[in-house]
Amino acid sequence: MYSIIQKCLFTQDAEWSHDFTINWLRRTQNTPLSFIYKQSIAAKPVTAFGITFKNPVGLAAGLDKNGECIDAFGAMGFGFVEIGTVTPKAQAGNDKPRMFRLPKGQAIINRMGFNNKGVDNLIANVKKSKYDGVLGINIGKNKTTPEENALDDYLICLRKVYNYASYVTVNISSPNTPGLRNLQHGDALETLLQGLKKEQKLLEVEHGKYVPILVKIAPDLSDKEIVDMSNSLINAEIDGVIATNTTLDRDLVAGQQNAEEMGGLSGAVLQAKSQAVAEKLCKEIAGRIPVIGVGGIHSGSSAKERIEAGSQLIQVYSSLIYKGPSLIKEIVNSL
Ligand code: FNR
Repeated sequence: MYSIIQKCLFTQDAEWSHDFTINWLRRTQNTPLSFIYKQSIAAKPVTAFGITFKNPVGLAAGLDKNGECIDAFGAMGFGFVEIGTVTPKAQAGNDKPRMFRLPKGQAIINRMGFNNKGVDNLIANVKKSKYDGVLGINIGKNKTTPEENALDDYLICLRKVYNYASYVTVNISSPNTPGLRNLQHGDALETLLQGLKKEQKLLEVEHGKYVPILVKIAPDLSDKEIVDMSNSLINAEIDGVIATNTTLDRDLVAGQQNAEEMGGLSGAVLQAKSQAVAEKLCKEIAGRIPVIGVGGIHSGSSAKERIEAGSQLIQVYSSLIYKGPSLIKEIVNSL
């Protein structure tokens, strides 16, 4: 069934297909039509950063940026759903076209630039949803906020989402917001992590519950940068790491259609690079911080490889587009 739907969608522009699908999922979730994507998936519980997940396969951030179809993704059988990246204020993102398919590598290049309707809209959608599974909310900064004031934006979002999220992801690895990846290094990283942890303590008292904070990192880090990053995350007592976001590396798709488009590359071609970063990271943090593996996972065996290298959980985005919801079942059954 999905292969027919996918063939039709692939005749259209990538972002148009994305918006069409999100709208359709939003309209059909919690209605009898949801039988089209509803799946029952075997229970494979995993506990990480104090949360029990019904299975280790999650939806990666960026597909449902505004949290409009949480119930639909829950019905597909994901063990957890991450929505966002959301920013304090709504913003339009970069000019279109900004999303491109590279079917040969089962890949996508995007330079969306955190297009989203703002954190208040996302919370209103979360309140409307009936989903009672694990919900991650991924937060970022507005493009117009200067790099040196980035912490302010993350704090605004953290305060607003805290009561509604099972965990919060701090996205400092999108390549499409100028300067964002600089927050992954040195003093900028230290300031950000300390500021967030301090606020988390206050929010824990205010709300009477502890919501873990995770940091999402890029695959374009050198070994030395991974070591430094790991030390900073451990010192700051960050609750989890998500590895990885999209890559700027184009060697992985050299010569393919759309390969020269600017933005972040994702999909099956990213698997080896993302796996290498996750392996190095897991070795450095040696079990002290749980890891969610993401980037190029497109099959049971690629998911297994990531988990064997030390990730407790995994997420998918691009391969869901290329293979459809049956991928979730395929992966869970293979683990
Ligand atoms: C993304 N990704 C992403 N990540 C994030 O933290 N915030 C975001 O807003 C987005 N937006 C986004 C848009 C599009 C079109 C794509 C394809 C990806 C990155 C995503 O969550 C994931 O980390 C990467 O895509 C790598 O995983 P896959 O796609 O190879 O499974």
